[in-house]
Amino acid sequence: MSRHGAPIPMTARKGGPLQGAAHVPGDKSISHRALILGALSVGETRITGLLEGQDVLDTARAMRAFGAEVTDHGGGEWSVHGVGVGGFTEPDQVIDCGNSGTGVRLIMGAMATSPVVATFTGDASLTARPMGRVTEPLALFGAQAVGRAGGRLPMTIVGAADPVPVRYAVPVPSAQVKSAVLLAGLNAPGETVVIEAEATRDHTERMLAGFGAELSVQDTEDGRVITLTGQPELTPQAIAVPRDPSSAAFPVCAALLVEGSDVLVPNIGLNPTRAGLFYTLQEMGADLTFENSREEGGEPVADLRARFSPNMTGVAVPPERAASMIDEYPVLSVVAAFAKGKTEMRGVRELRVKECDRIDAMAQGLRAAGVIVEDGADWWIVHGRGPGDVPGGVTVQSRLDHRIAMAFLVMGLATQRPMRVDDCGPIGTSFPIFEGLMTGLGAGLTRSN
Ligand code: S3P
Repeated sequence: MSRHGAPIPMTARKGGPLQGAAHVPGDKSISHRALILGALSVGETRITGLLEGQDVLDTARAMRAFGAEVTDHGGGEWSVHGVGVGGFTEPDQVIDCGNSGTGVRLIMGAMATSPVVATFTGDASLTARPMGRVTEPLALFGAQAVGRAGGRLPMTIVGAADPVPVRYAVPVPSAQVKSAVLLAGLNAPGETVVIEAEATRDHTERMLAGFGAELSVQDTEDGRVITLTGQPELTPQAIAVPRDPSSAAFPVCAALLVEGSDVLVPNIGLNPTRAGLFYTLQEMGADLTFENSREEGGEPVADLRARFSPNMTGVAVPPERAASMIDEYPVLSVVAAFAKGKTEMRGVRELRVKECDRIDAMAQGLRAAGVIVEDGADWWIVHGRGPGDVPGGVTVQSRLDHRIAMAFLVMGLATQRPMRVDDCGPIGTSFPIFEGLMTGLGAGLTRSN
């Protein structure tokens, strides 16, 4: 079920070609960070193109609860009057982060080195996800956490009154953990050092530098070493949020699979720590090009053009690419089902602790739709059936996971028989205009009972 109200089942069926321009919403990762860093600055940060999905709206509400003035000016324009590093006030209510792992983990980091207490919760998906990966490093700063068994929400964090800086090697490839430690380090005196063996999305580092923090990044034998000098005064910024590559993935993949399609997806952020899917699709033989490549607001941006690609072949996705496409494996597995030969995805243990166990959710739905899938703890293999040869004709579960819902709807646009998804409500967390955007391109999506 979606968070507010009854499930929204939808059906996707084969139809004519997809054509036109797909203007996807702002980047979710950058939107969360813009609100949080705005709240930690002194003065007014202006944001354009903010993603107005439920996850980000929950973060906006949380920033208000910690004392920032957050205003929606309409049309994706927002402003944040920040309280400064260390200036958070104590919320008088529980902070409900809904479905958002990014929201809760980053906010826990941002408050953990201030002398305030806050209790966090979320929906049935978020309260099942591990928070120990964040509370362990936050304890090194002096923060205390009390939660449910297994480090689950609801959880109370007692911020450190006298925080100490930390040197921390992140044990799992996670931008959320890295970011939580850096945000906590903001209010610790001295240098906080974060080491990540595998590079994950670097928006926090880029944006911290943009807000005026003293931060350096070195590539060493142990990985990326990020050094942040604590207690800076962050300067408010004007932030233009680029459009989300993780949302662009859905119209792009749909265009590759639906006969006769030709879709342009303009202004997509192509930060190398996010763009792994597009390179993988090109390796599979997708007719996918980057047009008008340029730089905007410190991030590489291009227009993506995707055309029907009936001759795609399976590939072995390099495990070292996993972090740069971690949210795109569900829709990649759908493309793989329509390619010839097998697609191997390894080094992806993290998929098991996303909004749901994404390997299991996709494997079960793909199998029900007639596709052979093998899986293990940190790998899975999809045996492609080739274009036009995937049966479909089943109802699958979205498990409170927006990307699972969208991946199966994309699938249903090319299967022999329609695909029905039991609840598409979660799509609103990251891509609230998905239904209208896709039907506008010509996709056969309908609400169903
Ligand atoms: C995100 C990091 C990733 C990603 C999530 C957004 C972020 O999670 O899956 O959708 O904005 O930092 P992990 O840090 O758990 O890999």
